[in-house]
Amino acid sequence: MTEGGSDKLWGGRFSADVDDVMLRFSESTQADSHMVAEDIWGSEAHALMLHECGIIATEHLREILRWLEKAREEFEAGRLRLRVELEDVHMNVESYLREGAGPEAGGRLHTARSRNDQVATDFRMRLRRYLLEAREGVAALREVLLDLAERHAEDTMPGFTHTQHAQPITAGFWLAAHAAGLERDEQRLAQAYLRTNQCPLGGAALAGTSFPTDREFTAELLGFDGVVTNALDAVQSRDFAVEALAALSMLMGNLSRLAEEVVVFSSPAFGMLEVDDAFATGSSIMPQKKNPCAGELTRARASAVTGRLMELIMLLKALPSGYNRDLQQDKPPVWQACEDTLATLQVTVGMWRTMTLKTHRMAELAGAEFASATELANWLVRERGMPFRDCHELVGALVGTLVAEGRTLDDHERVADIMSERGQPMTADEVAGIVDPAAVVRAQKSLGSTNPDEVRRMVEQLRCDLIVDREDIAADVRRLDLAHEETLRRVREVLGQQ
Ligand code: ARG
Repeated sequence: MTEGGSDKLWGGRFSADVDDVMLRFSESTQADSHMVAEDIWGSEAHALMLHECGIIATEHLREILRWLEKAREEFEAGRLRLRVELEDVHMNVESYLREGAGPEAGGRLHTARSRNDQVATDFRMRLRRYLLEAREGVAALREVLLDLAERHAEDTMPGFTHTQHAQPITAGFWLAAHAAGLERDEQRLAQAYLRTNQCPLGGAALAGTSFPTDREFTAELLGFDGVVTNALDAVQSRDFAVEALAALSMLMGNLSRLAEEVVVFSSPAFGMLEVDDAFATGSSIMPQKKNPCAGELTRARASAVTGRLMELIMLLKALPSGYNRDLQQDKPPVWQACEDTLATLQVTVGMWRTMTLKTHRMAELAGAEFASATELANWLVRERGMPFRDCHELVGALVGTLVAEGRTLDDHERVADIMSERGQPMTADEVAGIVDPAAVVRAQKSLGSTNPDEVRRMVEQLRCDLIVDREDIAADVRRLDLAHEETLRRVREVLGQQ
């Protein structure tokens, strides 16, 4: 191919082939195997643009497209193996093309293009697909949690601060809170998607090109929302990937917090949740064990994803302008973070779809540990016109006495007696009507409170938001599908296949 001692596509100025050790150190076929379809699609769009702009002849375009289509078929049939000695996906696809179409036509595809803008393009195209899948997964989980929240809008459970019983809440309130957090995760992913889906192709090596290209044409054909205008910025910037991993890290943090509660609440000591057998695992020695491993592994995966984010930030922080080969190391952490997140979403959705909420046990614990004490103090403020601080003091003393006597707030007679002794006469019935956890949650009135009516209202709002978000996701998916179909339509037109 070349006259020198190197048979690489870039080998013209080299007199010897690359050492094996160097080849293995520098090749990226493993990471690049994630973006073969993108590389072919990007190459087809680029070839169509070159022809459209009068840079290559129709006969050459036809040969290029014929062999790119063959490469696509080979890839889809699982037969296109990336050869390590060709370094990366770009060289593999181009070599396949050159071998098929011959150097006269095949050698023209790389006009006005560099691997630098090519890899940035492929990377963004693959990542946007991962982001869409993550957004769909988050939407599925939101739906499952909202269904459960609605079903359990009235069921009481303990609410915690410092992992100590704090006040009674409802299970629906608790789950709707998780769904609200996931809604913000969708917003962050959608934002990351927006900045990922901008086209760097046409930036060439770093400075643009002296050919009369049309960058908007390729951007449109590849389903991008716009162009990364400055060629230098286009080839070197990876902040979109940092943003995507940051959004995924926060999502994983939220999934991990939910998982932590599965682990704790399914422990027999709490006994408020039961993970379905299909999402639990056993012990090799203790026959009675049923372990919430999905939740534990979720916690672990969350640290892995944040680790990948850190890896990427460190990779980028000191790079000078222009493409630097360091950038090749940006893809493994991104793929890993995406795969881990998608797998975690899938398991979390499955686990919650099959989860049993043990409502009796939840209700039993809802009023435990004097959780209704705050509401008793609130009642005194309203009914007796006392300052809240005095009521807090009084109820605190009441709790102290009950603890000393080994009693609880459920001992309504005794509570009424103690209150009367301390100058606030109450009947046992009055006490019962205040401290019952179901009454406590009903008594909450503020916007966003745990009151079952308010929970139902919040769930309804979150459902409406979910519908809108799903429409956005579907529109983004459709946009990519249509762009791909349009590229293929043009390819077939040139090939005379329609
Ligand atoms: N494999 C490279 C990467 O992933 C492709 C770009 C190579 N560019 C270059 N000038 N060597 O970044």
